[in-house]
Amino acid sequence: MKMSDSETIGQKVDMSSPAVLDACCGSRMFWFDRSDSRALFVDKRRETHTLPDKSSATGSRTLEVNPDVIADFTNLPWTDNHFALVVFDPPHLTHAGRNGWQAKKYGRLEGDWKEMLRQGFAECFRVLKPEGTLIFKWNEHDVPVSQILALTPERPLVGQRCGKAAKTHWMVFMKPPHQPKKEDLR
Ligand SMILES: C[S@@+](CC[C@H](N)C(=O)[O-])C[C@H]1O[C@@H](n2cnc3c(N)ncnc32)[C@H](O)[C@@H]1O
Repeated sequence: MKMSDSETIGQKVDMSSPAVLDACCGSRMFWFDRSDSRALFVDKRRETHTLPDKSSATGSRTLEVNPDVIADFTNLPWTDNHFALVVFDPPHLTHAGRNGWQAKKYGRLEGDWKEMLRQGFAECFRVLKPEGTLIFKWNEHDVPVSQILALTPERPLVGQRCGKAAKTHWMVFMKPPHQPKKEDLR
């Protein structure tokens, strides 16, 4: 636990936080160190589930979503230009069953999810320092990545497709440098 203040949506949070923000960490599957002290882990839920797992001797395993801070990536409780690096791996499934294992693991897209992702991108870039890095992950199982890139005015620098069907995209963005306002130059 890295926060000294409240962890509840809408309440005050400690601003002396690590340099990296994972804006929707889930169970931190892709982290080499799920307790990496350089990162602050955010999700909108805190949940523990038992999921079926044929590769396990018990036939099941535990999925734990246990963020440092419970917050909504459409309204992040940090000031502008705060983090050096932001990781953004939002839900990508529109057809997952509400109570199925995929929804428990990845979340699901509901309602006006395009607007939610538009605001999520905007918030991730807002809390990122100028020239800071945003790592974005998307799986095209239900929605082509082109539709998602249309939700942000920022353009990725580099990327890679992976997975059996090459449907998973990793992309790297950089927040534009700070542009001084005319009045600041006078
Ligand atoms: C694809 S999963 C992230 C998986 C994660 N990267 C990992 O390595 O395990 C997406 C996560 O986004 C979370 N989420 C969905 N909507 C959110 C929101 N508005 N704010 C914060 N987290 C959200 C879900 O609860 C889910 O855990």
